[in-house]
Amino acid sequence: MKNPVYWVVLAGISIAFIQQGLPVRSQGESQSDNKQMDNITIRQGETLFLSCSQGDFVTHTAWLNRSSILYAGEDKWSVDPRVSLVTLNQDEFTIKIEDVDLTDEGQYICAVQTSSRPRTTSVHIIVQVPPKILNLSKDLVVNEGSNVILMCLANGKPEPAIGWSMLSPSDDSLSSDSEILEIPFISRNRAGVYECTAANEIAVDTQTVELTVNYPPSVSDGRDVGVTLGQRGVLQCEADAVPEADFEWYRDDRRIFNGFDGIEIEDAGAFSKLTFFNVSEADYGNYTCVAINKLGSANTSIILYGKFQWLLVSILISGFSFICF
Ligand SMILES: *[C@@H]1O[C@H](CO)[C@@H](O)[C@H](O)[C@H]1NC(C)=O
Ligand SMILES: *[C@@H]1O[C@H](CO)[C@@H](O)[C@H](O)[C@H]1NC(C)=O
Ligand SMILES: *[C@@H]1O[C@H](CO)[C@@H](O)[C@H](O)[C@H]1NC(C)=O
Ligand SMILES: *[C@@H]1O[C@H](CO)[C@@H](O)[C@H](O)[C@H]1NC(C)=O
Ligand SMILES: *[C@@H]1O[C@H](CO)[C@@H](O)[C@H](O)[C@H]1NC(C)=O
Ligand SMILES: *[C@@H]1O[C@H](CO)[C@@H](O)[C@H](O)[C@H]1NC(C)=O
Repeated sequence: MKNPVYWVVLAGISIAFIQQGLPVRSQGESQSDNKQMDNITIRQGETLFLSCSQGDFVTHTAWLNRSSILYAGEDKWSVDPRVSLVTLNQDEFTIKIEDVDLTDEGQYICAVQTSSRPRTTSVHIIVQVPPKILNLSKDLVVNEGSNVILMCLANGKPEPAIGWSMLSPSDDSLSSDSEILEIPFISRNRAGVYECTAANEIAVDTQTVELTVNYPPSVSDGRDVGVTLGQRGVLQCEADAVPEADFEWYRDDRRIFNGFDGIEIEDAGAFSKLTFFNVSEADYGNYTCVAINKLGSANTSIILYGKFQWLLVSILISGFSFICF
């Protein structure tokens, strides 16, 4: 085995190189040699191989991270389990660092001591990290007319570019190239799914936010319905509202309930249906559908009229005129 004293000496020399950043000039230029290798760019989590050439008459060699020795020859000085020796022979000295992280970024130095002159090779390691969205606005429910601000914060290396876009319904006019998307005085057609994108040259991270815009009901004009006596009659009412409207039906000023007098009321989403199973003379009249949500209400009126009677009348009239001829 080698004498441990040599290692301490080597460490001293190497540290001197790093601290001064220069070969020890007093020993003469020909006595030592400093070389800077191209930067190495690596992604977080990958394995980094550090290799430097050796040559004849090498007495001592070491790989250093900043000023601490990782390997001195085949002796591991680093306590980091991710660091291990790959190759040490006359030609090369290679170590590897597994699962590289941001903290591993920086200058690594291979120091080689020969009988003639010491030399160092340094290499700058740059660690890249895929973007990650850290802080994102929560799904939002707002009333129409509110001012909305969506926020998206992300990290990564290089610094990711962050942007917002409206995903569904897709709307190119609603996008932003920053962490913040501001929608002043929001209207109902701005409701939907928004996407934040954080991208750097390694990867893209995306997250979505759902924006709900509440507004009061508006009802479509009711269509009057003609039904023959004894037949089924259906009155339909449609309301546009967020949140979905609740419906109420009235005959003139009197509220009508489900199951009342052979009448069924069925609500399904934006629609309400009032069904008469067997229309009687007394059912003909003026009905009002009222749609209500927490922001307001709207109504429309629908007339249920006797169809057959008008048909009968017209037959009678035409029969009468036929007789007259
Ligand atoms: C290597 O990386 C360092 C630190 O980021 C930088 O200052 C230097 O310009 C880079 N050199 C090359 C050749 O890219
Ligand atoms: C390199 O040195 C830095 C700073 O001391 C440390 O955080 C990092 O874990 C070291 N990396 C290795 C592979 O030794
Ligand atoms: C996200 O950002 C908000 C507003 O700046 C801040 O109050 C909150 O603490 C942040 N949350 C996290 C997890 O960083
Ligand atoms: C409808 O009502 C009339 C009068 O009450 C009744 O005579 C008739 O049988 C009913 N028809 C049906 C299908 O229930
Ligand atoms: C039906 O009732 C509504 C509300 O009571 C009223 O505004 C409307 O004029 C009525 N329609 C007819 C045709 O009488
Ligand atoms: C129907 O709407 C009108 C105004 O649009 C309102 O004056 C009326 O009170 C409403 N009727 C009901 C029953 O809600």
